[in-house]
Amino acid sequence: MSVLNKKTVEDLDVAGKKVLVRCDFNVKMENGVITSDKRVVAALPTVKYLIEHNARVILCSHLGRPKGQVNPEFSMKPVAQCLSKYLGQEVKLADDVVGESAHALADSLKDGEVMLLENVRFEAGETKNDPELSKSFASLAELYVNDAFGSAHRAHSSTAGVADYLPSAVGYLMQTEIDVMGKALENPVRPFVAILGGAKVSDKIGVIENLIDKCDTLIIGGGMAYTFFAALGHTVGTSICETDKIDLAKELMAKAEAKGVKFLIPVDNRVGLEYKPDTEHKVVDSDDIPDGWMGLDIGAKTEALFSEAIKNAKTVVWNGPMGVSEWENFASGTIAVAKAVAEATDNGAVSIIGGGDSAAAVKKLGFSDKMTHISTGGGASLEFLEGKELPGIACIDEK
Ligand code: 3PG
Repeated sequence: MSVLNKKTVEDLDVAGKKVLVRCDFNVKMENGVITSDKRVVAALPTVKYLIEHNARVILCSHLGRPKGQVNPEFSMKPVAQCLSKYLGQEVKLADDVVGESAHALADSLKDGEVMLLENVRFEAGETKNDPELSKSFASLAELYVNDAFGSAHRAHSSTAGVADYLPSAVGYLMQTEIDVMGKALENPVRPFVAILGGAKVSDKIGVIENLIDKCDTLIIGGGMAYTFFAALGHTVGTSICETDKIDLAKELMAKAEAKGVKFLIPVDNRVGLEYKPDTEHKVVDSDDIPDGWMGLDIGAKTEALFSEAIKNAKTVVWNGPMGVSEWENFASGTIAVAKAVAEATDNGAVSIIGGGDSAAAVKKLGFSDKMTHISTGGGASLEFLEGKELPGIACIDEK
């Protein structure tokens, strides 16, 4: 999918107009305090453009899953404060989503002023994409901009439905996400290496299938590798293994072979006795996992094998850690892969990190600024890599 045929914020005449902007401010919070504001920061270019072009800016987002109930725990208040700090101007928070307060505040906006609606998921109709709620969103503004890439896989009132009732465009964040990932999928500079990790094959079937059609090398690590081991007839001890996906794993390996895609799975593994950070552990070959032991990371031989394949790549897409990377004893594989991706990037590769777990691992291990692009979308980037049409993009007006 390419965003080029969709209107962008620059295609709209925004001066003096009320512009409803859907962002993904679903930030990480602990005890009411934002612990990662990267999604707020990622939205700033669009908001600043609108301010500079004298729009009257009405921001909105969901935060958590309050299930259609007003719940102060999920209030957008901390986000309004964070935005005010970054923009250097007050961002007023409405007391409701599409009620009297939202309308009064929207009508009082002057050119270049910014407000934020309360959590759109306080409205029961939001996640049902209720047309009445979509119309209510539309009644607040004259134009609609969707910049919420992280929520683009949701067909909700504020992410999709509202676009039926207002002229629409994508924001800069949405544009960048789709441009970078779209180009890698449609027209990658080769060699194109895809790295997939994470616990389950079942979560990544669509991505594996789509990427087999496009990449030169597919690397599988993380918990899902053990289902592939089982498909090769290896014992996997107590490692996570989806027995109902073993046939599928065989099919995927056969498909890769038929397409001439190099399919790399771990040759050795760091195994532990229990699923605990400090469990007794050792490294064993992939065809030699003893009974009672579980794979928790790739081993050193695999690190070398994967790194060799990655460092000469010109396009890298990475989704999912190689092991339990949040535990020091089992982070080595993910660190090795991150280093190899960073080296490839230094050598001119475009490196794209899917959001969610992969982005968190790369950040925690200190490699964030070594990558070309870290997606702000978890589920959304996964669905994008699966080649699915995302409702939050599909709904936007064509150029
Ligand atoms: C995310 O964090 O992936 C997005 O904000 C979507 O949130 P959701 O899974 O609650 O729809």
